[in-house]
Amino acid sequence: MVTGKPFLNAEQIQIRVRELASKISEEYQGKEILAVGILKGAFMFFSDIVRHIQAPMSIDFITASSYLKAQTSGEITIHCDIRADVEDKHVLLIEDIVDTGLTLQYIRNMLSAKKPASIKICAFLDKKARRRADIEIDYVGFEIPDKFVVGYGLDYDNKFRNLPYISIFKEST
Ligand code: IMP
Ligand code: MG
Repeated sequence: MVTGKPFLNAEQIQIRVRELASKISEEYQGKEILAVGILKGAFMFFSDIVRHIQAPMSIDFITASSYLKAQTSGEITIHCDIRADVEDKHVLLIEDIVDTGLTLQYIRNMLSAKKPASIKICAFLDKKARRRADIEIDYVGFEIPDKFVVGYGLDYDNKFRNLPYISIFKEST
């Protein structure tokens, strides 16, 4: 269940999204971006941030999973791969949350092999305490403590993704 008041409310989220978008717009001046959203979790963050990034852009998606309910399986499955040609592109990976970092490490390595001009990572949330992979996140929305969160695209058992805010999730007993 979702308890208490939002951990991050819709307004705080939108302010931070715009800040990140303007930093990205500045740093990609004169470049065209291939924005790659990692589904399903990043769908809401992705659609919010791309509309504030001022740079020529094409978009694509990868569907990946590692979580079974509130436990990471540690094993990454790609259900639907990117279709765009990555070679010589400035790839910006957009993710909902970095936890162990294993998902992003896997996807980053997979795309690096296709010889992009650059790859950067933008994650809405960063749960640093649980990191297992050595991976650098270029743009972070918020660092959060080691709690399981839902909303704003993030799920528990594929539910709560539609909430416009982030809440801490507790399994009811
Ligand atoms: P990682 O491979 O351990 O970094 O896991 C990343 C993926 O696990 C994210 O893309 C999320 O989909 C999912 N995940 C990690 N932590 C949470 C959480 O607190 N709530 C919901 N999903 C999470
Ligand atoms: Mg995800």
